Amino acid sequence: MSDFVYLDNAATTFPKPPEVIQFMCDFYATRGVNPGRTGFDLALEAEETLADARQALTDFFGGTNRDRLVFSHNVTDALNLLISSVLKPGDHAVTTCLEHNSVLRPMYMHAENGVEVDFVPFDARGYVDPDEIASRIRPNTKIVVVNHGSNVIGTIQPVAEIGRRCREKGVLFAIDAAQTAGLLPIDIAAMNVDVVCFTGHKSLFGPSGTGGMYISEHVDITPCRAGGTGVMSALKLQPREYPWQMEFGTLNTMGIAGLLAAQRWIADRGGVDAIYEHEMRHARRLRDGLAEIEGVQLYCADLSHDHLPVFVFNIGGLPADQAGTFLDVEHDVITRTGLHCAPQVHEGIGTFDDHGTVRFSPGVFTTDDEIERAIDAVAEVAEYGRARSSAPSLAVST
Ligand SMILES: Cc1ncc(COP(=O)(O)O)c(C=O)c1O
Repeated sequence: MSDFVYLDNAATTFPKPPEVIQFMCDFYATRGVNPGRTGFDLALEAEETLADARQALTDFFGGTNRDRLVFSHNVTDALNLLISSVLKPGDHAVTTCLEHNSVLRPMYMHAENGVEVDFVPFDARGYVDPDEIASRIRPNTKIVVVNHGSNVIGTIQPVAEIGRRCREKGVLFAIDAAQTAGLLPIDIAAMNVDVVCFTGHKSLFGPSGTGGMYISEHVDITPCRAGGTGVMSALKLQPREYPWQMEFGTLNTMGIAGLLAAQRWIADRGGVDAIYEHEMRHARRLRDGLAEIEGVQLYCADLSHDHLPVFVFNIGGLPADQAGTFLDVEHDVITRTGLHCAPQVHEGIGTFDDHGTVRFSPGVFTTDDEIERAIDAVAEVAEYGRARSSAPSLAVST
């Protein structure tokens, strides 16, 4: 039994598979040179690893051309690059109230500079209505960005339906797949998605500092950034050829090597469906256990369908951060509390003014014993919360 129960996999998966770490170390020790910039043997070998990673991720997202798989630092970086490349003053964008700050803040930033942004709310179960999104699209709408799976309430959005409506209206459709890449099959063609943005360190089981996007072949984006590519150095402007068109400066080659090893590890583990089922079994048991504890309030946690193994709750009598501290310090149960970088979600579920919620997100390495330990820990903290709420308060008269 491990010393602690790690239920913060929505923040980053931990631990990372030993095979991934080993591959990264071997890569950096033996081929850790700059790929593609020169023709010596080691550079070619490093380039081959990079190309293999591009190919593996292109296949993973149902893409057709590995040059359209571009790497970035993380999904925040990819989303910023995409949003800022597409939007200009006078344009309009549509997104949702489910978004992480990696979408909200770039949108707010552009809203300060003459872009109009619509934030589509979600319903009481935590889902956005594709028709509602379609109804917001105007002649000057340049992009629709939707969170594929919420990092707070765990709901999976009907992106194929949203994408179909965007296609009908000829508007670029991008998804933030930070929480879903590695847990759900993503086929951009079948899902009518134009750009999928991903991060490497969550369910893709790569290291932090990796991420990127797959840009469909019918889409061309003029980047808002420029810089060295290692190729076509005489050009004054960024090359108009993928992947260099959307990659700037030296890549995180060691991290990308890790992403490649992680792709192989996911396949060896039975693929995304097997991993998803494993994590959902634990999430459902956790949720059911918590539902029986007096004083625990769950939010949008119907885990029977279209849900990730992520959900949030509060414990009566205790602010979320205090409940999280008790779980951590007294029970070694690690969670994430607060607003989870998604303030509009907390406004929607009514927990914004209470400083958010506690989040549980089991992972692929979570065990049955750990789930039971976490349920027992919440029961004890809830008992304390109930005792505290019913204790007479000391009135001080002046
Ligand atoms: C839905 C969602 N979007 C974006 C992000 C940002 O990810 P990163 O910090 O890797 O860029 C996260 C991370 O928690 C997330 O859950």
